[in-house]
Amino acid sequence: MKMSLKNAALSLLYFYLGVSGQVSQCAPAASSLRLRFVAQLSVNGCALFVHDTGASDGPHLAVEPLMCVTRSLKSLSPKVDLITQQMYVSIPVLMTDDGMLAEAQRQLQHLSPKSVTFAAVSEVNASTDANSTVRSIAFIWSPHESVGDLRIETDMDRSAYELSSELQLSSVESLQRIRLSTKLFLNGTYQTYQYRVSTQNHSFFDPSEYRLRYCPLPSCRQLRFIRSISLENCSVRVHQRLDIKGHFLIEPLLCYNISSLSSESIRYDFSRGKYYLKLNLLVQDEASLQTVRTKLADFSPLSVEFMRLWTAERSVSSSLSARFEVGPLMVSANWRSAQLRLYCSSLNQCGAARFSALSEPVDLWRHLKWRTSSLVANQCLLMSHKHLSSWRMKTIGSSPSCSTYNSCRNIPSLLRSKIVSFETFRSLPDGRWFVTIQQRVSGSVSFQRTWAEYETGFGHDTDFWIGLSAISLLSTGGATLRVEMRLWNGSELHAEYAGFQVGDASSRYRMTYREMLPERSTVSWDAMEHSNRSRFSTMDADNDRRSESCSDGYGKGGWWFNNCMHFNPNGIFSTRETSDDAYMSWFSRRRWLALRQVLLLLQI
Ligand SMILES: *[C@@H]1O[C@H](CO)[C@@H](O)[C@H](O)[C@H]1NC(C)=O
Ligand SMILES: *[C@@H]1O[C@H](CO)[C@@H](O)[C@H](O)[C@H]1NC(C)=O
Ligand SMILES: *[C@@H]1O[C@H](CO)[C@@H](O)[C@H](O)[C@H]1NC(C)=O
Ligand SMILES: *[C@@H]1O[C@H](CO)[C@@H](O)[C@H](O)[C@H]1NC(C)=O
Ligand SMILES: *[C@@H]1O[C@H](CO)[C@@H](O)[C@H](O)[C@H]1NC(C)=O
Ligand SMILES: *[C@@H]1O[C@H](CO)[C@@H](O)[C@H](O)[C@H]1NC(C)=O
Ligand SMILES: *[C@@H]1O[C@H](CO)[C@@H](O)[C@H](O)[C@H]1NC(C)=O
Ligand SMILES: *[C@@H]1O[C@H](CO)[C@@H](O)[C@H](O)[C@H]1NC(C)=O
Repeated sequence: MKMSLKNAALSLLYFYLGVSGQVSQCAPAASSLRLRFVAQLSVNGCALFVHDTGASDGPHLAVEPLMCVTRSLKSLSPKVDLITQQMYVSIPVLMTDDGMLAEAQRQLQHLSPKSVTFAAVSEVNASTDANSTVRSIAFIWSPHESVGDLRIETDMDRSAYELSSELQLSSVESLQRIRLSTKLFLNGTYQTYQYRVSTQNHSFFDPSEYRLRYCPLPSCRQLRFIRSISLENCSVRVHQRLDIKGHFLIEPLLCYNISSLSSESIRYDFSRGKYYLKLNLLVQDEASLQTVRTKLADFSPLSVEFMRLWTAERSVSSSLSARFEVGPLMVSANWRSAQLRLYCSSLNQCGAARFSALSEPVDLWRHLKWRTSSLVANQCLLMSHKHLSSWRMKTIGSSPSCSTYNSCRNIPSLLRSKIVSFETFRSLPDGRWFVTIQQRVSGSVSFQRTWAEYETGFGHDTDFWIGLSAISLLSTGGATLRVEMRLWNGSELHAEYAGFQVGDASSRYRMTYREMLPERSTVSWDAMEHSNRSRFSTMDADNDRRSESCSDGYGKGGWWFNNCMHFNPNGIFSTRETSDDAYMSWFSRRRWLALRQVLLLLQI
């Protein structure tokens, strides 16, 4: 069955390839000939684009230069150009590779090409997008070398060390803003084409940009839409091929993967000096394919496949574009996923957008509409006009809800005020961002508070508790909790916990976490263990498992007391070192450590 399909696909391909003079029919783009698209392959984590040279005795296929950075930039170090006295960093960019060419030849076998070679390149110039902070740039390479040297020189006012650390932190972002203007040798003349630098294992492309290099593909006529099928969190449109019996094609999904956002932090793009949220979309996956196969059983399908996403034009509502800048849709080299960036004007704004996308995804996604074109068998395109792809709408955990107009009005302001009113955002040297949910530094605020106060939050800039309702929202889907402690002798300790999650009011804000992360902790003993699966208790709300109130017995603070606790961050603030565990303290294997200061942070 596979063979007959392949043959049919081949004959169709030859039909298109066989149209003589197609290159001349293809309108020139930006003064160069457009290329005839044959395939896009993913080899060793780099994307390979393949075109047909158009030679009459063909098909002769040409693999375009790889432009792929295959070395990690973690150990990048600045150098000095002794002649110009400029400092620079040097990034090796792979142009050609024999192993990858052999793999491309293998993957293209079914087209029976006369030859598959790398396209001949004569020169490459590097430049950056106008709004990139990277300025001076050069591509040092001569024809027949397999690796080019991308040199980024620093501005006078930036040190090369700053630049190299920025590149290490956001190499993908910085490299994506670099454009390589390249001359390819084609049919006896040189033609200029634009490429982007990509990063191995992270090859995402803006399809609207690189697809300009190719002749427009014809639209598919031999397809008939048959039905939409609902998947668990998404829906798909299915078409039937009329030219091959029993062959069904599914349009790319473009469904929101909410679980990826819950493990994503807010990121910073150094090349643009902006914070952003990365939203991950699913384009095709095995599970959805299986479901569609099952649901099409009444058609007795011989084969069911995904079409490949070719372009996705989006329109953004004015309310979304007024507050956020939406980046282009970037598609992965293996066609399985896509990314969309939401650039924010501030960190707080990104924080608010993240809550929204997690707790009520439709609030965000309804502002984006898509018009897609999908590639069928590398030959023709299916346009989906006004095609509004479905997104995973289901929320993880609970979203804020309210029963009256007044309580409803308060929820967004509650969230925003909690997060913005205190100096709550912090970054660590490893690039992760945290929001502080509890802080006790000066002792100026009493933590002997009622249930109602622990629920809504209290305190001010140095000492505060942001509130159980906010913590519950912030930890939706599970977050990383970081505990930072300062001892009386000046030593600092910290512990990190994965999968920290606080339920809603109906569960009495029950807290669970998956595990302490020893590699991210400097304590050897998990003093939170007692609190796992416990409900929250305060001096006026005893939800612990002991007959007396733990809160009353241990300083009248609120905590996830069990029977009772080994960590008492909301105990009494002390002005001297004391071994009394009614005070702020952490149990360390054999004894209580008195805490001088303590902070609880959640990764965002
Ligand atoms: C190659 O160039 C010749 C003359 O410049 C032109 O007639 C021919 O159509 C070109 N062929 C292709 C495949 O571009
Ligand atoms: C990509 O993954 C491969 C295999 O895991 C690894 O050897 C390579 O260093 C990675 N490339 C980059 C740029 O991190
Ligand atoms: C930055 O450059 C990109 C591409 O050149 C452009 O689409 C975008 O609008 C620019 N953004 C700003 C803030 O100038
Ligand atoms: C590279 O830059 C030089 C000098 O500006 C120019 O003459 C040449 O055409 C450029 N090449 C490409 C491929 O853009
Ligand atoms: C659908 O979403 C729910 C919650 O968002 C998740 O638990 C489930 O695994 C998702 N199903 C699929 C097929 O992704
Ligand atoms: C969604 O994202 C998560 C986390 O990045 C990933 O593990 C998972 O495989 C993704 N789901 C699908 C269906 O690709
Ligand atoms: C401070 O006290 C802790 C706990 O007793 C001990 O482990 C640490 O070594 C001490 N640090 C200093 C600087 O004395
Ligand atoms: C905490 O409780 C959860 C839920 O029962 C469990 O999955 C997890 O393993 C527990 N964590 C630890 C460290 O015991």
